[in-house]
Amino acid sequence: MHQRGKEPRPTGFLTAPGMTGLVFPRLFRTKPGAWLVSLLLLPGVWAAELPPDAAVDRGVPTMTLTPQVVVHSGRLEWEPFSRDLSAWPTLSHADRRSTEKPRRVSLTGPLEGDATRGRELAMRRDKGFCMLCHQLPGEQWSGNFGISLLGYRLNHHADADLYQQVFDPRVNNPHTAMPPYGTNRILSDQEIRDIVAYLQSLE
Ligand code: HEC
Repeated sequence: MHQRGKEPRPTGFLTAPGMTGLVFPRLFRTKPGAWLVSLLLLPGVWAAELPPDAAVDRGVPTMTLTPQVVVHSGRLEWEPFSRDLSAWPTLSHADRRSTEKPRRVSLTGPLEGDATRGRELAMRRDKGFCMLCHQLPGEQWSGNFGISLLGYRLNHHADADLYQQVFDPRVNNPHTAMPPYGTNRILSDQEIRDIVAYLQSLE
């Protein structure tokens, strides 16, 4: 398990005896210079901490790698995977970006969502992909990690509550595994309205 508390502090690293004076004599004595040097060295500090089998490209922590079996060798080779994940925070060891805080939102105006479009968005792998965790009608291979959404309309939830749940479920449960679709800009305002209309149509 990676322990955040034990990371080498960049300042401590840079002020190691003799080190800065030797390598960056002039630059380091100015404040902006010190920052610049820290920035240049940080990737090196990060890379050094990664476990040897981490599936990330050390140069570009937000690019994933895919394992390829090297035939008859008992080895795997890691090939760069074409998808750039820099737009999203990931669970990678090397990803030190902070996650956006849970956002409380209020639905403005009437819902004006389209349930048919909502169903499509719920099914799309690059959008809702809700059936990864929830049972939905017509889906043979849905997950059971979240509650079944069959007949969900019968719960008579307010549109605004469902909008909040899809926009950022962390407001209702800080430890939820359900993605914050609105805060992380996976779904737009209209797309969330469509999905809420779809949820409200489930008999
Ligand atoms: C990674 C798994 C996952 C995905 C993907 C996911 N959910 Fe959830 N969802 C959950 C879990 C787990 C809960 C249970 C409550 C919690 O953990 O906050 C939940 C709760 C809910 C609830 C509240 C249920 C209640 O108690 O009334 C709704 C509504 C919901 N999800 C809709 C969706 C929709 C719509 C999508 C797709 C846009 C979606 N979920 C995608 C895991 C997921």
